[in-house]
Amino acid sequence: MMATTRIADILSQQQVGSEVEINGWLRTRRDSGGLTFLEVNDGSCLANIQVIAEAELANYQTEVCKLSTGCSLSVRGLLVASPAKGQTVEIRAESVTVLGWADPETYPLQKKRHSFEFLRSLAHLRPRTNALGAVARVRSALSFAIHRFFREQGFLQVHTPVITTSDCEGAGEMFTVTALEPGDLQGSDPFGNDFFGRRAGLTVSGQLQAEIYALSHSRVYTFGPTFRAENSNTSRHLAEFWMVEPEMAFCDLRGDMEVAETMVRFLVATALDECSEDLALFDQYIAKGLIDRLTLVRDKPFAHLTYTEAVAELERSGQPFDFPVQWGTDLQAEHERYLCEQVAHGPVIVTNYPESIKPFYMRLDDGGRTVAAMDILVPGIGELIGGSQREERLEVLAARMAAAGLDLEQYGWYLDLRRFGSVPHAGFGLGFERLVQFVSGMQNIREVIPFPRTPGSAPC
Ligand code: 4AD
Ligand code: MG
Repeated sequence: MMATTRIADILSQQQVGSEVEINGWLRTRRDSGGLTFLEVNDGSCLANIQVIAEAELANYQTEVCKLSTGCSLSVRGLLVASPAKGQTVEIRAESVTVLGWADPETYPLQKKRHSFEFLRSLAHLRPRTNALGAVARVRSALSFAIHRFFREQGFLQVHTPVITTSDCEGAGEMFTVTALEPGDLQGSDPFGNDFFGRRAGLTVSGQLQAEIYALSHSRVYTFGPTFRAENSNTSRHLAEFWMVEPEMAFCDLRGDMEVAETMVRFLVATALDECSEDLALFDQYIAKGLIDRLTLVRDKPFAHLTYTEAVAELERSGQPFDFPVQWGTDLQAEHERYLCEQVAHGPVIVTNYPESIKPFYMRLDDGGRTVAAMDILVPGIGELIGGSQREERLEVLAARMAAAGLDLEQYGWYLDLRRFGSVPHAGFGLGFERLVQFVSGMQNIREVIPFPRTPGSAPC
C-alpha cells in the first residue's frame, strides 16, 4: 500500500508524463462534458490534486459518478500539464478504486465553511478540513524544528516523568494520580496505602527534573505533555498542553533570554520557510497580515522592559483595563497584550517580577523585592514563555521554600543540587500550543492541539 506517492511530492516535482499512483480523500466531484473532475487530498499539503476521470473507465457509471465528499480513493494514471487555472499538473486517471464510501446524507463535512466551534465537536474528522489540516502540518514542523534547534545548540534531550510527586509551580494545580477507589481516599494519610505510598500527580512542569540533568550535562531540554487542573476556560488555556523546557547550567538571566529569543525567532523563520502554503491560508482567512507580522518577529530583536517599567507604562496608558494594575500584582492577558501591541509593537521580554507573585525556585535579586524572572509576551496571545535564573544559593532557596510552605524533606533532592556542586543556572518553559497559535494566527488554543482537554470537555 505504501508504494503510492504523496500528493505534496507530485505537486512539487511535477514530472509531467510519468505514471503516478495516489491515495486520498475526495474533497469535491464535478461532472462536465462527459468527464468527471475529482479533487483529492491526502493531507500531505494544503493543495488538492485534480484527477480527470473519463467515461471509458470500467467503473465510471457504477462508482465514479456516485463519489461524494469524504470518500477514500486510490487513483492510478498519467501526470499531465493542466490547462486549468490555479494548478500546473493533473492526473488523467487510468483507474479509480474506491476504498471507502462516505454517505453524503450523513457525512458531516460538507463543502461549505464550518465554524471552528462546530468542528470541535468532530475531533475525529476535523483534521480533514483545510484549516485544521494546515494546523496539524505547522504543529509537526514546529515540533521537529524545536528538536533541531536544541540539537544544533548541543542540548541533551531528557525525558522527564509524567507522573511526579513534586508540584514545580507550587500552585496546587496537579491532577492526582491514584490507584485507589474513591471510597478508600479517607483518613489523615489517604495516599499512604496508594500505589506510590504517597500522593502523586500529573506533572505541571518538567523543570525540577530538568535541573537535575542540567547539573550533570550542562545543557538539556525536555519537551512533553504537561497538565494543569486550573479552572481557566479561556482561549489560551488547556488542561493538557505541551511544554518545551530547556535548562542551562553556567547561565544567568541574560543567557536565558538570549536562548529564548533566538529559539522563538528560529521557529518563526522555520515556519515561514517550510510552511509557506499553510501560512498563506491563515493569512488569507484567519489572521490578515500574519506573514508580515511573523516576518518582523523573525527579523527584529525583541523589546525589553522590567516589570517595574511595564507597570509604569500600563498606569500611564489610561486604558480601562478589567483588572487594575499596580506594582505587586500579576500581569493579566489584557496587560500583556497592551504591552506588545501598543507599546512594543511586537514581542517584549518583561523581567524582574516581584518575588511575591513568582514561584520559589526563581533567583532572588539584590534588594530582595524582585526575582530574576523573564516572560516573553507576544501580540495576540500574551505570555508565550515563562522562565528565570534559578536560586542556586542553598540558604536563600531553603528559606524561600519554607516560606512557600513546601516540605523541605520531600524536596531534599532539590536542595542537594545546591549542596553539592551548585552552579548558576537558568531555564524557561515555552507553551507549545501558544507557539502554534501565534504562528497560525488561530484565535482559540483548542484549534491547535488535536484533542483539546479543557474544563468539562475531553472527547475522544
Ligand atoms: O509560566 P509557566 O507556568 O512556567 C513553568 O511552568 C516553568 N516551570 C517553566 C520553566 O521555567 N521551565 O508555564 C510556561 C509556559 C507559559 O508561558 C505558557 O506559554 C504555557 O507554558 N502555559 C500554558 N499553555 C496552555 N495552557 C495552559 N494552561 C498553560 N499554562 C502555561
Ligand atoms: Mg508563567
